[in-house]
Amino acid sequence: MSFTVAIDGPAAAGKGTISKAVAAHFGFAHLDTGLLYRAVGARVLAGADPVAAARALDPRDLESDALRGPDVAQAASRVATDPAVRDALTAFQRGFALRSEGAVLDGRDIGTVICPAAQVKLFVTASAACRAERRWKELQANGSDMTLDDVLADVQARDARDAGRATAPLAAAADAVLLDTSEMTVDQAVAEAIAIVAAARA
Ligand code: CDP
Ligand code: CDP
Repeated sequence: MSFTVAIDGPAAAGKGTISKAVAAHFGFAHLDTGLLYRAVGARVLAGADPVAAARALDPRDLESDALRGPDVAQAASRVATDPAVRDALTAFQRGFALRSEGAVLDGRDIGTVICPAAQVKLFVTASAACRAERRWKELQANGSDMTLDDVLADVQARDARDAGRATAPLAAAADAVLLDTSEMTVDQAVAEAIAIVAAARA
């Protein structure tokens, strides 16, 4: 029997951090679905056609630091508005969710579109100011000279595009548990998420 944890929310809410910790705690596999869109976005920045890039993507070949930057994030959010791109990435995500050891998938539409029958759905959020500051600190640690205002504008533009698109917009599923991490440390947010998953498994 598979066990799927769906974690959605806006940029830099802490989805990835929570997903990795939940996966490690329960021995589940983890898929950061944003990486799929980032990989397509990066190929489009290099001149490829979005739908062709999505169809040709080999999801086993994704980890690359080059996918982490803000330019690729914006390109990802642009290609993610195209229903044909989303469609090309769906089967891989659904297959991953059925992994026999259990699976955590994080993104924007996991609980609503990709895995509507997930056993646990979390919608992780935080104020835009908090999220921008978190992302800005990461960028600073990596030597970026972007200002906090630039990062905030970037995050807000992406949130608006993600929540406003017609296909699979960023939204909490009706049965998702809301986790606002604005006032939480990483440890607190992780402990809360693990408790929610443990309760659902019991
Ligand atoms: O995956 P997502 O973009 O939602 O966020 P992330 O990459 O997991 O987290 C963004 C940053 O916020 C990381 O540097 C975390 O350490 C930090 N953070 C957090 O995730 N949760 C908190 N409660 C506080 C900070
Ligand atoms: O780490 P962060 O939350 O900043 O972004 P990400 O999760 O890597 O996602 C990059 C972009 O991919 C998002 O802004 C969305 O436009 C898109 N995305 C999506 O549409 N659906 C998903 N399931 C995951 C990401």
